[in-house]
Amino acid sequence: MAEYVVEFGKDGRPVEPDGRLDAAAFHRNHAPIWAMLQKFLVGKAGDVVEAGSGTGQHVVHFAKHTPDVTWWPSDLNERHLKSIEAWRAHAVLPNIRPPLRIDLTDPAWCPAMHDGGGPAELLAVFCANVIHIAPWRVAEGLFAGAGRYLRADGRLFLYGPFKREGKHTAMSNAVFDTSLREQDVEWGVRDIADLEKLAAGVGLALIEAAEMPANNMILVFARSDASA
Ligand SMILES: C[S@@+](CC[C@H](N)C(=O)[O-])C[C@H]1O[C@@H](n2cnc3c(N)ncnc32)[C@H](O)[C@@H]1O
Repeated sequence: MAEYVVEFGKDGRPVEPDGRLDAAAFHRNHAPIWAMLQKFLVGKAGDVVEAGSGTGQHVVHFAKHTPDVTWWPSDLNERHLKSIEAWRAHAVLPNIRPPLRIDLTDPAWCPAMHDGGGPAELLAVFCANVIHIAPWRVAEGLFAGAGRYLRADGRLFLYGPFKREGKHTAMSNAVFDTSLREQDVEWGVRDIADLEKLAAGVGLALIEAAEMPANNMILVFARSDASA
């Protein structure tokens, strides 16, 4: 069954003195996720926001492979923001910006730095394992921002477990869904059709639903009016 961690650093895994946290899921997930992202990102230039970055490990891995992409990690949890910054300092890569404090429950979230600098439009938004461990309004906020900031050829990549037409794609996901809802009635594995409705409301459309290991998927959304 899928696992979830609400706050890294409290799960018994090592915490480095500089605040770098380690997510067990990162080690399982980053290679298959990168295999999907690289099909779109390699060879492109632009800005990518990661929403709900957690430890910050994904951004470091992806940034190594995409020198022309500027990565903007984000989260709202203090310990995670510290870890993201520590991983950024440790990586010493020029294309990772300091973490943004983005709370996806705010539909007006914006990829701007404290000084007002920041990208006006985004090549992509990437979000892994967030919207099922959060109230539905987090999904609403994520799509609202993606709809506002994605450029004409931009993409929203959403990784996690999903239901299809109201049904779980695996028994383990059904068990996981029950455990999430027991933890918080507002959490739960989301249905692709509901996400497509959110997308349609902000001018996006699902263009790919790729199967991933352990009954996860990556959903790829693009502008519905773009031919790119
Ligand atoms: C299970 S972790 C996933 C972290 C990372 N994306 C990964 O795959 O390893 C979920 C993350 O979502 C963040 N999160 C939860 N609610 C959020 C919100 N309203 N806005 C932004 N991030 C949120 C949490 O702080 C946490 O870092």
